[in-house]
Amino acid sequence: MGLKGKTVIVTGGARGIGQKYCLKLASEGANVVCADILDPAETVKLVEEAGGVCMGVHVDITDVASTEAMARAAFDRFGAIDALVNNAALYGGLKMAPFYELDEDEWDKVFRINVKGTWHVCKAVFPYMKEKGGSIINISSTSIIQGVPLLCHYVASKGAVWSMTRTLANELGEYNIRVNSVTIGYTLTDASMSLSDNKEDFDANYNRNISDRALKRGMMPDDVVGTIAFLASDDSAFITGQNLNVDGGSTHY
Ligand SMILES: NC(=O)c1ccc[n+]([C@@H]2O[C@H](COP(=O)([O-])OP(=O)(O)OC[C@H]3O[C@@H](n4cnc5c(N)ncnc54)[C@H](O)[C@@H]3O)[C@@H](O)[C@H]2O)c1
Repeated sequence: MGLKGKTVIVTGGARGIGQKYCLKLASEGANVVCADILDPAETVKLVEEAGGVCMGVHVDITDVASTEAMARAAFDRFGAIDALVNNAALYGGLKMAPFYELDEDEWDKVFRINVKGTWHVCKAVFPYMKEKGGSIINISSTSIIQGVPLLCHYVASKGAVWSMTRTLANELGEYNIRVNSVTIGYTLTDASMSLSDNKEDFDANYNRNISDRALKRGMMPDDVVGTIAFLASDDSAFITGQNLNVDGGSTHY
């Protein structure tokens, strides 16, 4: 898919869907940088066992210096940054609750990581992309189209990621840097499965998601990795400022 020898940073690649992005991008020939606040060692090992190239980097995307160090480390190792997958977010660990019960500190933390953190990482890679061009992929969520209840802070933050994508695409087009977002449907990961401690609530949410879909099955991380590889590659060279909605037909947007 035109990724051979390209360097792709995946934030939040230590677990969940981000880990699957690292595996897919490496299998397509990319040099992958798995950047996370958690230890990326497991992802690095899995990619290498599969014959791919992966460097692990510790990053806290809420910290500007940390994102700059991440970008520098990627460039020093591979000599370029061709694509960035802004996947890191505060999602795992959140608990569903009515908007009037959400904790104010948690609201701020969701925005600090999901919105401001995404902005920080874009700024950190820009100096390395502006000569040669590149592709930035921001991970949003189908929940912004559905207006999923009981996660108001998270849904609002992913709406901000979606709209920030359009502004960045317009600002960065002159550098041949493409910026797109992907709204992802409810996907089975440890994070999504822990949003509710109550099995009945979980089952109701899960079953509603399946019955709403044109494709009547649960969505797995592997259902979205191909879209990310496509957007990172030159196969999507004239696509920018767009959103790809990968949700099995839950929403038609
Ligand atoms: N699972 C779903 O149903 C679903 C649906 C739509 C969108 N998404 C989005 O997909 C992405 C991955 O979801 P997931 O289910 O794998 O969740 P997850 O919580 O397992 O993954 C988030 C990753 O981000 C990392 N992270 C958090 N804060 C960080 C920080 N300050 N600096 C660096 N890394 C940080 C975490 O360590 C983790 O590896 C998220 O952006 C999520 O919002 C998930």
